[in-house]
Amino acid sequence: MSTMNTSPSAANFLSQFAATGVETSFHGRHINPQIMAGLDGKNWSLKDYEARGGYAALKKILGKDGSGSEPLTQDQVIATLKESALRGRGGAGFPTGLKWSFMPKTFPGQKYIVCNSDEGEPGTCKDRDILQYNPHIVIEGMIIAGFSIGASVGYNYIHGEIFATYDRFEAALEEARAAGYLGDNILGSGLNFQLHAFHGFGAYICGEETALLESLEGKKGQPRFKPPFPASFGLYGKPTTINNTETFAAVPWIIRNGGEAYLECGKPNNGGTKIFSISGDVARPGNYEIPMGTPFSKLLELAGGIRDADKGRTLKAVIPGGSSMPVLPADIMMATDMDYDSIAKAGSMLGSGAVIVMDDTRCMVKSMLRLSYFYMHESCGQCTPCREGTGWLWRVINRIEHGEGRPEDLDLLNSVADNIQGRTICALGDAAAMPMRAFIKHFRSEFEHHITHKTCLVPQND
Ligand SMILES: Cc1cc2nc3c(=O)[nH]c(=O)nc-3n(C[C@H](O)[C@H](O)[C@H](O)COP(=O)(O)O)c2cc1C
Repeated sequence: MSTMNTSPSAANFLSQFAATGVETSFHGRHINPQIMAGLDGKNWSLKDYEARGGYAALKKILGKDGSGSEPLTQDQVIATLKESALRGRGGAGFPTGLKWSFMPKTFPGQKYIVCNSDEGEPGTCKDRDILQYNPHIVIEGMIIAGFSIGASVGYNYIHGEIFATYDRFEAALEEARAAGYLGDNILGSGLNFQLHAFHGFGAYICGEETALLESLEGKKGQPRFKPPFPASFGLYGKPTTINNTETFAAVPWIIRNGGEAYLECGKPNNGGTKIFSISGDVARPGNYEIPMGTPFSKLLELAGGIRDADKGRTLKAVIPGGSSMPVLPADIMMATDMDYDSIAKAGSMLGSGAVIVMDDTRCMVKSMLRLSYFYMHESCGQCTPCREGTGWLWRVINRIEHGEGRPEDLDLLNSVADNIQGRTICALGDAAAMPMRAFIKHFRSEFEHHITHKTCLVPQND
């Protein structure tokens, strides 16, 4: 999937995954991870999940938690989500409560809930770990979403290349059905919700929400024109709410503990905790669930710092939100907090939370070459600026990397990026253009050196 070659082994991820299931200290307060808490890599099953408080949120909204409390209304659940300031974890950071409120309440026909587990952005590897090690938290979140918007059917679109994860999610669905959490008349409440897993096709574009819906319908995975948005014309043309895996996984904690409690775990407008997939030149790459607003320096410390720092390696650059987000130089990153607003202020985006760390041995031209190959390969070809432009970006970078760059090439690259960005049906074009402009902006001298001297400025370059 990724040409970045930044992903450590699965075993490494698992050890980091479990290691984050402890309290962290933030602004003098102790915050528990909300999605990864108590996970050891083996305790994924229903009984384990229930022992961690699983399905208590569902019971609470249905008035079945034994407390004698009234069931919650759909509006109450949505209001709690709005208060929590949960923002979608799929990339754009759109407020989840607001998205759910867009669904037409009085629509008489079928509505759908869709979970986006396509996860194809290079550097991102959190959703597959959530599904593998805590699948019921996603199921519970999706049932609550179904209740809130009046949808009785849901699908989880799982990336096509992760077979074991798909099987794990299927096994969890079986458990949930057998226990009466899924199906008709859930826990005797009258609520119906059928949930199915769908094996995707392993294409990055199928993570774009409307391409995903097309793919789910059995068609070629190409994005649709918007508007209409999925809330009015979604799966099979019916109102559909589509959210990222981690977004659904955040919901049960919010319902159990309240919107305000979630908000307080993070920062205003950036509620809760977030799982960051940190990869690249760090000592302990992995998935780390930390409060929104945690300084980047703290995240780097959790990941063991720069790998081989004792041999003189230093931090050079970071892509803070997945490969489609603008790269930032070390000094800016070290002064930045990990939340949507802070990263935007620093000149990039939090995106999916994939933090790709590069040390001083990394050649920025070569890194950009790998990225531009990825976007050229993954462009679906529907829009001319993206189909043609991603190829142009790769070809020009390729000649610069191989000592055949021309003095006008940097202007040409920026001009091609300008002619892609904002001119396509979906944001894949932007995803190809934004990194190119940022790499040139922050590391121009390296590109110029390649063009002028036909060699790399970076001494140790693998
Ligand atoms: C090319 C492309 C790929 C995307 N891939 C994913 C993905 O793998 N997973 C995901 O959740 N969102 C992905 N998105 C964003 C989705 O279109 C959508 O915004 C997201 O699923 C909404 O969920 P959220 O509100 O919970 O973030 C992608 C967007 C684009 C343009």
